[in-house]
Amino acid sequence: MRITDTSDLWWKSAVVYCLDIETFLDADGDGIGDIEGLTRRIDYLAELGITCLWLMPFYPSPDRDDGYDITDYLGVDERLGDVGRVVELLRLAHDRGIRVIADLVVNHTSDQHPWFKASRKEKDPAKNPYRDYYIWRSDEPGDTSDEVVFPDQEDSIWEKDDKTGEWYLHHFYKHQPDLNLDHPEVVDELLRAIGFWLQVGFDGFRVDGVPFFGQSGEKEGRDDLVDPHVFMRTLREFISRRHGDAITLGEVNLPHEEQLAFFGGEDGNEFHMQFDFIGMQATYLSMARADARPLVKALKARPELHVANQWATFLRNHDELTLDKLTEKERQEVFEAFGPEPEMQVYDRGLKRRLPPMLGGDPRRVRMAYSLLFSLPGTPTLYFGEEIGMGEDLAAEGRMAVRTPMQWSDTKNGGFSSAAPSKLVQAVVGDGYGPEHVNVMSQLHDPDSLLSWIRRLIEIRRACPELGWGELEILEHDAGHAVLAHRLSLEDSAIVALHNLASDPVTVTVDCGGFGADARVVDLITHEVLDLTSGGVESALDGYGVRWLRVRPAGDLAVP
Ligand code: GLC
Repeated sequence: MRITDTSDLWWKSAVVYCLDIETFLDADGDGIGDIEGLTRRIDYLAELGITCLWLMPFYPSPDRDDGYDITDYLGVDERLGDVGRVVELLRLAHDRGIRVIADLVVNHTSDQHPWFKASRKEKDPAKNPYRDYYIWRSDEPGDTSDEVVFPDQEDSIWEKDDKTGEWYLHHFYKHQPDLNLDHPEVVDELLRAIGFWLQVGFDGFRVDGVPFFGQSGEKEGRDDLVDPHVFMRTLREFISRRHGDAITLGEVNLPHEEQLAFFGGEDGNEFHMQFDFIGMQATYLSMARADARPLVKALKARPELHVANQWATFLRNHDELTLDKLTEKERQEVFEAFGPEPEMQVYDRGLKRRLPPMLGGDPRRVRMAYSLLFSLPGTPTLYFGEEIGMGEDLAAEGRMAVRTPMQWSDTKNGGFSSAAPSKLVQAVVGDGYGPEHVNVMSQLHDPDSLLSWIRRLIEIRRACPELGWGELEILEHDAGHAVLAHRLSLEDSAIVALHNLASDPVTVTVDCGGFGADARVVDLITHEVLDLTSGGVESALDGYGVRWLRVRPAGDLAVP
């Protein structure tokens, strides 16, 4: 591996930041965040150090699923701006060294999309070219209540359409009919949209709802209707032809084996990256138990990937904190620790909370959690507001609890908008996590703030290719299960990270192995240079303490 590889396969050592334009910054004072507002904050993001911005859907939409219900793949929601503003945003971001990816929602459209309106008009595909854009059945479906994504809202994945007396498929809300991804015309339409946004200047896509691409009829004894891998390979080939280093980042919350298949297995020719949902859930279980073993197990269980593929690691995103891959008992443990009240839970599988309130607001624990995230193998992904420790609004409906406006200052509406509070697209958090306590301005120049801590972690991360590329090894020690010691080795350099998941201080000695007694060890956080005593390093960790060490052979300057 050469240092130049890190720019070729840039996503392997990127730092991703997700935001919704609508709630980031409102430039025109109408209460709704807009592209112009985001453009004004690109330098904030550049200073934070992120290298890839993921924009949640900005397309025209009736907004019944916060923009994930699209009516025009080629447009921009006029409340946010227009394509001209998108181009300005992309130019500015690129100038500041930030790539930008767009949410790509192709599993379904809104039921208000012109294709669906046309599809439901006439059931004979010979007379209606749009009929097969969606998936229809004429026979009455059985009970599919266990297949719906939002069990509080839906009880079937099929909805009868009175117009033609047939049922259409919708895994998500009934107002989001699933597209037929096996239909050549649909694939053409989607590729045209993808080609358009690549030409506009996007650097790739976060691909939504992948587990539902495969419209399997297995349960009902029918042949597979759509092979999702054929679709994914078509998408991937097209994207790579049009824009060589554009990426696809998949939302594929599936068991490892199926994730591997969506990476393209050994060939690595489907998704470049996928979120590590299993590792994320294990992290919460480990934090709840103050026991690193669940996380270690999840890390060890990760299948080996093609060199060009990468995991995207995260602690929170814009959805519920899903705990669906834990056992019932484990899930209850996490609920008990981090969201015991019914109003904190959603869909019987997740939490509608942000991280700091879940950790009781303990700054040591919050910092430890982010240190862990940034030290794990993979590409860390932040959800806006995490860098300042924003909280949630439990009064907001379901997943909207974590989609409150960005808190810039302690002024009106947290500096998000000059509109009357009643006009805001969503209310600003009002409790102890409100803007008067948590905001960018007060943290920006405070070296002890969470924002400064995250900035420091990003800075280290960007100077240490070991973290995105290195080989993982879990280090043995005798300081108890609360301490995770792991090493990421890349050629003749290694990062050793120590994390204490418990509140009691502990001393841990780890073997930095393979470098000889005269190796140089640098503490990446304090910049202290340490000696290796008989190959090992002894560290005293405070409660929830962390340490990052870089080990290199003697004589190597370790810069950076
Ligand atoms: C994904 C998105 C979620 C959305 C759903 C339907 O799971 O992350 O926010 O509601 O897809 O598009």
